Amino acid sequence: MSLPKASRIIGLGHYVPPRVVPNSELAQMFDTSDEWIQQRSGIKERRFVDADDTTSGMGAKAAIKAVEDAGIEMKDIDFIIFSTLSPDFVFPGSSAVVQPLLGLEGVAAMDIRNQCTGFIYGQTMADSLVRAGHASRVLLIGSEVHSTGLEYSNRGRDVTVLFGDGAGAAVIGPAEEGRGLLDMELHCDGTYVKDLWVEGPSSANFPTRLTHEMVDDGSCFPKMNGRRVFKEAVTQLGNVIQSVLKNNEMTVDDIDLFVPHQANMRINQMVGRMLGISDEKTVHNIQRYGNTTAATIPIGLSESKAEGRIKDGDVVLVAAFGSGFTWGAGIMRW
Ligand code: ACO
Repeated sequence: MSLPKASRIIGLGHYVPPRVVPNSELAQMFDTSDEWIQQRSGIKERRFVDADDTTSGMGAKAAIKAVEDAGIEMKDIDFIIFSTLSPDFVFPGSSAVVQPLLGLEGVAAMDIRNQCTGFIYGQTMADSLVRAGHASRVLLIGSEVHSTGLEYSNRGRDVTVLFGDGAGAAVIGPAEEGRGLLDMELHCDGTYVKDLWVEGPSSANFPTRLTHEMVDDGSCFPKMNGRRVFKEAVTQLGNVIQSVLKNNEMTVDDIDLFVPHQANMRINQMVGRMLGISDEKTVHNIQRYGNTTAATIPIGLSESKAEGRIKDGDVVLVAAFGSGFTWGAGIMRW
């Protein structure tokens, strides 16, 4: 059997919950303002789930669209990778929960936990599975429900204003000669684990992982050293993009579209200015969705494809930075 030399994204889809939450609604819950949020992050509004939507449920809705877009049938999927930091349950993972929703009982399914870089870590895994012959149509889902895990008070406001709910999905299969994922470079530096994290519930907390104190002192909510995240994100995104371009004998002039993770519009604008990637070539949708973590890149790709911003033969750059810290960048020829 001859193995494919590369993989490519053959279908894309996304889903965001219908409830729009403008900055002004958050300003009614704690001390913040539309002006502060927009100025610091670029965010105008985000989507929050109601009782009907879950991480796996939104993932399923995005996945159905991605499979349709790929022009295949759901039964053609032979591997599921689910990337999320907000799984439906502590265990089992959301890949197991989404699987029967898609009628894929029996198909291999795994979760990965790489936060904002989850989609590009997942794409690298999917690429390896396809090229090794372990799978021929991988469904890669990134989905997050942040809204049920945020702290709606002055104590949590720096983090709470940044996040939103949503899902994106891609079908990854064998690529024809000259197309597909050309390269992906991934990194992690665990020195910074506590600069962007949710401490509890924690198996490291002895003798019990969940206590009333965790709720009272807020350690069950996300915490962030915002300035450190900002500085490291700009530095490492700049470094990894330059590195992946150089290793593939490309420059920013070869890039037709830049689809970065959406953590903060200021981070992406600063990286763009530093490297010379114009704002016109850069996808920004954080204004409408906030940070949907593992879902930002597939939502950005899916919207761009639907809007005609990605055409066959285009060179697309993706890059992400997030909790861990983890980061990476990749280049695809569409
Ligand atoms: N509304 C109003 N004021 C606020 C808010 C808020 N939501 N949050 C914080 N403030 C206040 C602070 O209390 C502080 O007040 P003080 O000066 O009286 O002490 C003031 O605003 C400035 O706070 P800073 O933290 O210094 O604000 P900064 O300019 O650094 O912006 C921000 C904060 C937007 C969070 C920025 O640091 C940032 O974007 N960091 C990176 C965020 C990011 O990328 N996160 C990663 C995403 S998560 C992931 O990857 C999983």
